[in-house]
Amino acid sequence: MVQAYISGTGFYVPPRVVTNDDLIRNYGVDTTSEWIVQRTGIEARRFADEGVGTSDMAVLAARDALAAATLQPHDLDLIIVATLSPEHAFPGSGVFLQQKLGLCDGDNAKFVPALDVRNQCSGFLYALSTAVAHVRAGMAKHVLVCGAETHSAALDLSTDGRTVSSLFGDGAGAVIVSATDADRGVRGVYLGADGRFAEVLCQKIWDIRKRPFIPKNPDRSGTVAPEMLWASMDGKLVFKHAVGTMLGALMRACGNNNIGIEDIDLFLFHQANMRINQFIAHQLHVPDEKIPHNIQRYGNTTAATIPILLAESERNGKLKPGMKVALAAFGSGFTWGSAIIDW
Ligand code: ACO
Repeated sequence: MVQAYISGTGFYVPPRVVTNDDLIRNYGVDTTSEWIVQRTGIEARRFADEGVGTSDMAVLAARDALAAATLQPHDLDLIIVATLSPEHAFPGSGVFLQQKLGLCDGDNAKFVPALDVRNQCSGFLYALSTAVAHVRAGMAKHVLVCGAETHSAALDLSTDGRTVSSLFGDGAGAVIVSATDADRGVRGVYLGADGRFAEVLCQKIWDIRKRPFIPKNPDRSGTVAPEMLWASMDGKLVFKHAVGTMLGALMRACGNNNIGIEDIDLFLFHQANMRINQFIAHQLHVPDEKIPHNIQRYGNTTAATIPILLAESERNGKLKPGMKVALAAFGSGFTWGSAIIDW
């Protein structure tokens, strides 16, 4: 049977570093760096400059991953972008990425299908699962999977929004999922969702059920009310469910592969809050060195987090060929996922 393995990883983060103190200095947020570091582990995040969109960052991560896999854009059979912050409501970022990869140019155009996945912090795992299924079914040989986010465009950077805005940052990560006859690669991706919690962490922007569709401001200017742009979150409820559900997702992944937690060489977790991950590590008796973090530098980059962490871990030597790797994420929806990969 054809297996699916990750033949290349890549990432891009925008150069502008915004430290916790910058949130106070530049935006007047009433917070302290100590509060943010103690509660989340975050010291800084990256913000894209105005004019930069999600597919602009995704294309740089994608080119990095293609180069690592020694492939060209024309080798791709499918493009999947996971994001909660696409350029527009529609179409998704996938088609913009496809065009920016040069796939529509000239006589040599290859109109590779492009798909967007809307599963927030679990978006990368949902996208990975789709890519693996395409490869195993023989429908694709090489699939580009990108997670990319431009959170900075829609953060309430006033004191009112500090609980959410201090968490998020911008960036993009990418992997190439390729077919192989070798007995290696992605052993399984295990997904779940619980729609009862759909409104616990959400960014409504509009309510399609309302007439007129575009709500009026108090000044009746007819634009979307600014507060509808901000994400709302019951942080404590998310935290509680994240810990239990990620533990369950990891146990399921191990059970389905007949392995124990001790057989896993590296755990790459979604980076929503360092305390969530430390708690999971403690429960599973996993040593710190098996759980790399980058939340200190990037905050929560949602769908981009796991592919950025994969690419960084490969480049800094923590992720080596032959390792057994576990991925896990939990987020808005609620949605979650886990995966086991023989790297
Ligand atoms: N600086 C200073 N004070 C703050 C800040 C801040 N940045 N943010 C909140 N506070 C204050 C609050 O106003 C509140 O003050 P009050 O007691 O006077 O009302 C107090 O601190 C406690 O606020 P809580 O929201 O209860 O703080 P909590 O301990 O729950 O920590 C946090 C908040 C860090 C957000 C935590 O709940 C968390 O990490 N939750 C999980 C987030 C997550 O995993 N999200 C999922 C992924 S996102 C996705 O899928 C898109």
